[in-house]
Amino acid sequence: MNSWGNMLRISLFGESHGKAVGGVLDGLRAGIELDFAQIEQDLGRRRPRTAAYSTQRRENDEYELISGVTNGITNGAPLTVMFKNKDVKRDDYKPQIARPSHADFAAYIKHNGFCDLSGGGHFSARLTAPLVFFGAIARTELRKQGIEVFSHIKSIGDVEDDSFNPVSPQKNDFELDFPLIDKSKRKAMEELLSEVKSEGDSIGGVVECAVTGAPAGLGEPFFDSVESCLAHLLFSIPAVKGVEFGAGFALAKMRGSIANDRFTENPTNKYGVSTHTNNAGGITGGLTNAMPIIFRAAFKPIPSIAKQQSGIDLQAMKPVSAKAEGRHDVCAALRGAVIVEAVACICIYDFILREKQ
Ligand SMILES: Cc1cc2nc3c(=O)[nH]c(=O)nc-3n(C[C@H](O)[C@H](O)[C@H](O)COP(=O)(O)O)c2cc1C
Repeated sequence: MNSWGNMLRISLFGESHGKAVGGVLDGLRAGIELDFAQIEQDLGRRRPRTAAYSTQRRENDEYELISGVTNGITNGAPLTVMFKNKDVKRDDYKPQIARPSHADFAAYIKHNGFCDLSGGGHFSARLTAPLVFFGAIARTELRKQGIEVFSHIKSIGDVEDDSFNPVSPQKNDFELDFPLIDKSKRKAMEELLSEVKSEGDSIGGVVECAVTGAPAGLGEPFFDSVESCLAHLLFSIPAVKGVEFGAGFALAKMRGSIANDRFTENPTNKYGVSTHTNNAGGITGGLTNAMPIIFRAAFKPIPSIAKQQSGIDLQAMKPVSAKAEGRHDVCAALRGAVIVEAVACICIYDFILREKQ
């Protein structure tokens, strides 16, 4: 399905090298003044970089608001945003050859050969442009309630940034095009990206995200726990293959005496209490517990690489050696950070609206 949501409902449409991509956001109250500067900032972070390790496809992400906004203010009707595709090069793709680890083969089978596979078609990360647009609206609404969502590049390959302090993550003065806690790691990360690119290869990375200021008690367990809704949206982002909350998989190696987040009095906190540690990542029982929500999303390496590998000739259904043509990113985590933030904003804002029901 291409729709998600509860109080807010999102639908995405379009293909990478078709006429346009876009989305419909339903459920926004009337009277929200769109923060176009925030929208532009977030879209800018998703856009390909000028650096050599980014895809050379150039889309300026000009968008058209088709419905739902009058004079920059939501009017209560579904908000439809459309991004026309301009830098389209269908000839770069050989849709009859399914690339290894891309969606091509599975999509071809699912849609009986009728799907548009150019540039990944409907499976392209270009579909995340409307998602980031909607995320920016949710971000602005959350900020009015003292809730901030920010992230950093936790790792690229084996080059690691520091981790957020789970009890008090700080946005500091992140460079938004390459957010790092330890800025001195940028050089090593960029060198690695350039090296990987020069080898015609790609590489994976991890984005760590924090949500601060969320009240306790958000979430609708059993099935709409905060973890499950966040994970649902995070796993919808192309190339995300792992998600962990708080101490995540490390919890499986701990004893309870270490893992438990012990309570303490805290006069600065709205509830008068908080916890010494935050191994739970701000979520217990599927509900927010007023500690920062901390999670990580692992991006696999970009599948399209300039190396000969066996794909599938979809007509003959036989493996063939081919290398990906076209313009591709080297690491999805860089542009992925703002997409992770966007889905977190949408998810938390949706929970807040459910609370008000
Ligand atoms: C920001 C971003 C940029 C991406 N750029 C490319 C790209 O240039 N080439 C490519 O083959 N895949 C790219 N991907 C990944 C594919 O879209 C994704 O791997 C593919 O749709 C298969 O889905 P899956 O990896 O979730 O299984 C990108 C993903 C993200 C999040």
